Amino acid sequence: MSGRIPQSFIDDLLARTDIVDLIDQRVKLKKAGKNYQACCPFHNEKSPSFTVSHEKQFYHCFGCGAHGTVLGFLMEYDGLEFLDAIDELAGMHGLTVPRENSHSSQTPQQQAAAKAVRQDLYQQLTDISRFYQHHLRQSNTAIQYLKNRGLSGEVVKRFNIGYVPDEWDSVKRQFASNSETESQLIDGGMLIKNDNGRVYDRFRDRIMFPIHDRRGRVIGFGGRVLGDGTPKYLNSPETPVFHKGRELYGLYEVRQAQRSPERILIVEGYMDVVALAQFGIDYAVASLGTATTPEHLQLLFRTTREVICCYDGDRAGRDAAWRALENALPLLQDGRSLKFVFVPDGEDPDSLVRKLGADDFSQLLDNAQDFGDFLFERLSQEAMSGDAGQHELANQAAAAIVKVPEGFTREGLITQLSRQLNWGENERRVRELFSRLQPEAKAATEAARPNKKKIKLTPIRRAIALVLQYPAAAARLSTTDTQEVAMLPLPGIDLLQTLLVQVQAQPSMTTAQLLEHWRDHSSGPALARLAMSDELFAGDLIEQELKDTFAVLIEDYFSSRIEALQQKSSQGGLSTAEKQELILLLSETKASRH
Ligand code: UTP
Ligand code: MN
Repeated sequence: MSGRIPQSFIDDLLARTDIVDLIDQRVKLKKAGKNYQACCPFHNEKSPSFTVSHEKQFYHCFGCGAHGTVLGFLMEYDGLEFLDAIDELAGMHGLTVPRENSHSSQTPQQQAAAKAVRQDLYQQLTDISRFYQHHLRQSNTAIQYLKNRGLSGEVVKRFNIGYVPDEWDSVKRQFASNSETESQLIDGGMLIKNDNGRVYDRFRDRIMFPIHDRRGRVIGFGGRVLGDGTPKYLNSPETPVFHKGRELYGLYEVRQAQRSPERILIVEGYMDVVALAQFGIDYAVASLGTATTPEHLQLLFRTTREVICCYDGDRAGRDAAWRALENALPLLQDGRSLKFVFVPDGEDPDSLVRKLGADDFSQLLDNAQDFGDFLFERLSQEAMSGDAGQHELANQAAAAIVKVPEGFTREGLITQLSRQLNWGENERRVRELFSRLQPEAKAATEAARPNKKKIKLTPIRRAIALVLQYPAAAARLSTTDTQEVAMLPLPGIDLLQTLLVQVQAQPSMTTAQLLEHWRDHSSGPALARLAMSDELFAGDLIEQELKDTFAVLIEDYFSSRIEALQQKSSQGGLSTAEKQELILLLSETKASRH
């Protein structure tokens, strides 16, 4: 579906949702003064520093710096993408998400119809999954196949595994009752229309693994032949509801078992996920026959701190691991870890866990190779011998390390690199190399990283923070109050001015609504930090405080300008215009002092 979601709809969703209620349903909150508190769900702690403000509709953890609106919370805690979080909130209030017609020329009616079709598709896929499960119970061959593969009835049920009979049209007959449902099922990847216009089932005579999205809706299937036919696995194609690069088989089931698993294992196959779960290793997911994408990793790191990639030990497996590593580097902030386990030749996690048993298999995971070791191992194997090789190694490793966000993890890698090189124990040389690569990387990581340090509240930041935290009071200011400050040629004034215009257009906005207007803006993170700065006087006279802050800004500007002009005049004289400016400035400041 195309088109932007109108900001007014997001405003409306935020107005209808109370962040305190929503979070309280997931993390029990206790009232503490004006705010609510709990132990932070995003890091381990014993005493509560996670704070939710009803007034601002905003949460903030003073321990780990996590913060955001109700949308941010749904994304972090429920592991949803932005659009899914919007969908979830809209669903809670029984609303349809509208789209602005940027590309499509759909009318609102057509948009609603498209959404209805999608809703129907989810429902149809769920019904089809039940239908497959029903057929599994009817088929001795299929049951026997799963038994031979060592699967218990319990785990087959847990994963809703089914079977589709050996017929050309079992789904078509049951579900495509009219041309509308038929075309929905073609769009949904369940039916195929050939060049002659004949319509038939995509999946026939296969064991069917339903794939769920994070909210538990069936979005597609993987189907395995019972014998040696090809292809061994047939998967749903990309459809309006199924995007391989964004979904992981088994993630929904993992989250059903534990909301915050300590680690998650990425494996290659459906059978691997299911067999591991049967052995109690209920935290494995499979990428769906594709490489592990940055989106996959991002998704996993929203759910856990440790991701273990479990690949074949052969060349292809190691290449896949390397690609996963490259995709993961920018996500490896302190507190997250990425590890690798390579399965011996001829085995896969399914066969291995059966051979070793759960305990020994877990042991293998405990001893997984840390990504840093894997990185250096691979680079040194590939490097030539001699000095040239050392240089190449240094450059390649530094290029990788620089992608890791600043912190202990990155520092550890730098030390590791200096030990790895035959440049003596000379860490200085490595750091020099590094500082050459640093500036570009720094800009990128800094923009992305939440900053726990207190920011210094300069007058301009103070003004912005006041507007963010007390939008209603800021909205009450008159044009006379704001016009002078708006003209100052100072950094940050444009931002302040835009915020003032926004709150004056919608005086009832909460802090959260205001911040959602800046979600994709480069200043968004900085504004979020100012929104929770607790250094403001939370007095009753916010309007006066704003006016005072503006006055300080104006006076500071005037005096620095006066100083500059006076200095220039002593060094060589001022132009007529400058002289006039100086006189004006001096009289203005005099006037304001009296
Ligand atoms: P494997 O060939 O390793 O199969 O493919 P497997 O998972 O061990 O399956 P079993 O044990 O023989 O039943 C790994 C994964 O690659 C994708 C599937 O996601 C599969 O689980 N794949 C493989 C396909 O999509 N199509 C294929 O034809 C083969
Ligand atoms: Mn296998």
